[in-house]
Amino acid sequence: MKKILVTGGSGYIGSHTIIDLLQNGFEVISADNFSRSSPDIFIGIEKATGVKVKNYAIDLCNFDDTHAVFQENPDLAGIIHFAAFKAVGESVETPLLYFENNLVSLLNILKCAGEFKVPHFVFSSSCTVYGNPKEIPVTENSPFEEAESSYGYTKQMGENIVTESYRTLGLKASLLRYFNPVGAHPSNEIGEIPIGKPANLVPAITQTAIGKLPEMKVHGNNYPTRDGSCIRDYIHVSDIAHAHTLALKHLMQINKKEVCEVFNLGSGTGYTVLEVIAAFEKVSGRKLKYSIGPRRRGDVVAIFANNDKAKNILGWNPVFNLDQMMATAWNWELKLQELEIKNGPKNFN
Ligand code: WQD
Repeated sequence: MKKILVTGGSGYIGSHTIIDLLQNGFEVISADNFSRSSPDIFIGIEKATGVKVKNYAIDLCNFDDTHAVFQENPDLAGIIHFAAFKAVGESVETPLLYFENNLVSLLNILKCAGEFKVPHFVFSSSCTVYGNPKEIPVTENSPFEEAESSYGYTKQMGENIVTESYRTLGLKASLLRYFNPVGAHPSNEIGEIPIGKPANLVPAITQTAIGKLPEMKVHGNNYPTRDGSCIRDYIHVSDIAHAHTLALKHLMQINKKEVCEVFNLGSGTGYTVLEVIAAFEKVSGRKLKYSIGPRRRGDVVAIFANNDKAKNILGWNPVFNLDQMMATAWNWELKLQELEIKNGPKNFN
């Protein structure tokens, strides 16, 4: 079986991608120091797949420790690099932490990929590289506008580092730009575990609905959109995960020595914040306690993807609709509550 290194394997998208890779016949190892995630997620992966994934609990900003993982696994067929901090608000408060963590880890991984001649590389990028787009939907050729945060700059810079170095490293690379990943694995064995008060919309909705948060604030309803609230392209995390498996397989069948391609991973449909809340209330049967607050600094008014390229080249077809995204997110929140009641708030398995 082809062995794949997934960095950030206990993270939200990393863990869902590991399940998809295992279900598609790949062998997987992970490197994650649990700085923003829980080791319990590997228990959930094992329950969903029967596979106990080996994780190297190292800091990828430490070159020697990163190099040792490659020395122990000189037969890697590919790398999927998720490991990065991704909280937009935090990145504005602590920019140097974000530039150091997100870029040094990437440089270390790329240096090792070159030294150990790992042929395939998938980079976790984001729609934040587009900033506030002048035209929507955005295609992969839409320009990088000013990033709205240090996090966004680390993704723009990360893409530039890969596009400038893949040839000298002998890499075939895919840059995957996620829109808004939401929901949880249909098995309900893994899902998002926000640390502290969630900044993102869907965990804020589910934590409010279950009573962890007293009420949710809608960050502004006076935008130039159909109902005044911001528009985003919400995409199920399992659809995002499967796109990584397809991107790897695509790279493996390209008979060129070096390549670097970009793909938008969005549903292609934009929903407003208020429409997402309405979908959640319909699916959960719960009335959400929310009020309209001020706009959030750095928010983009509206963005959603043109996903034709991923569909046509990767053969990717997102299968989860908005109701299913809300249903899996809600089921996971209910599961977390049940587990926390049973095991105590720290460990959920
Ligand atoms: C969505 C909308 C908020 C919370 C983030 C990251 C981005 C990418 C996708 C990684 C906005 C509104 C939110 C709340 C609200 N992740 N909202 N009340 O900012 O589009 O993008 O996820 O690559 O990097 O920034 O997602 O979920 O934070 O916000 O009204 O309590 O929901 O204002 O309009 P965002 P989000």
